[in-house]
This record gives sequence, structure tokens and C-alpha cells, in this order.
Amino acid sequence: MKNNIVLIGFMGVGKGTTARKLAELTGLYALDCDDLIESLVNAKVKKIFKDHGEKHFRSLEKKTAIWLEKNVQGTIVSTGGGFYGVDNLKSIGKVVLLHGDFDQIIERLLQHPNAAKKIKKRPLLQNMGKARELYERRLPFYREVADVEICVDERKVEDICNEIMEKLALKKMV
Ligand code: S3P
Repeated sequence: MKNNIVLIGFMGVGKGTTARKLAELTGLYALDCDDLIESLVNAKVKKIFKDHGEKHFRSLEKKTAIWLEKNVQGTIVSTGGGFYGVDNLKSIGKVVLLHGDFDQIIERLLQHPNAAKKIKKRPLLQNMGKARELYERRLPFYREVADVEICVDERKVEDICNEIMEKLALKKMV
């Protein structure tokens, strides 16, 4: 198994923010799967969904997962909310589930100064009823693939990172 740290969890739970803070604290690099996909096809996630559909996006996630396993080491990898479904997830690194209550995730997202943009860019967050169903459907699968689960509700990113570092025995650089 590669020594990456793979952050999974529902949309808006703070995977990217946590990955960047963890990178700052550990001196490791952070990579984001959606950024990799967007650069691979030179299009935003929203446009990929619109022009080619979700199935195509999932195939790009699979391709990215294979690339990560083959080429990336010692890195913190933040993923999209559906990336947990790739076949080789556990071969990329230690899987950390960031878990939060659905209502709290959405509440926090709505309080963000860029809330409208953050919601608009996520095709699967356009209908809150469907998003809640998706959350409930995915939760057992997230838990099944995770090596470690961290609760993010009402916690600061530093606190979340400290727990991840403690659980994975990562050294602090700063
Ligand atoms: C998705 C989550 C998104 C993005 C895409 C699909 C999902 O990433 O990959 O819109 O299936 O949950 P975030 O989890 O960063 O929002």
C-alpha cells in the first residue's frame, strides 16, 4: 500500500480545506482529485456532468485513482464525494473519512460567504432532498472503506487535523 492519506466524505464536509491544512502542518503536499480531473480534460466538474453525464465523470475518477496509485507517494489526497467508489481506493493510501451530520454540513456551507458559488458548482447538490438521500445511501459505504473516521461537526480545521495526525502518527512540522 502507498503511504498517501486519502480524505473521503460527503460534499461540503471540508476535505479540501482539511487536506491543505494537513499539508501545512506536516510539510507534505496536498492534491485534489477534482482538480486533477479538471486539468486532465480541461473542463470544470459541472461542465463534465452537463456535457458527458455522471457516468463519464466516474470513469475519470477511476482513471485518476489508477494514476494516483501508480505515481503518487507521501501525499495528502482530497477526493470528490463519490471517489470512495473507485476499485483501488485502499491501494492509494490510508483512507480517512471526514464525517459530519447532513444538516450541519449544509448549514455550514450556507453560512460561507461564497455559499451560492459552492452550491452551484456541485451538480449533485442542486436538489437538497436528493442530496440527503445520497448522503444516507453513501454513509455505510464510506464507513466500510474507511480506516479512520473523524467527526467534523462544530470543530475547527486545526482540531480535525490534530486528530488525524494523532490517529495516523504523522509528525508535525510547524
Ligand atoms: C461529487 C462530489 C464533488 C465532485 C462531483 C461529484 C459527489 O466533490 O466530485 O460534483 O459525487 O459527491 P466534493 O465532494 O468536493 O464536493
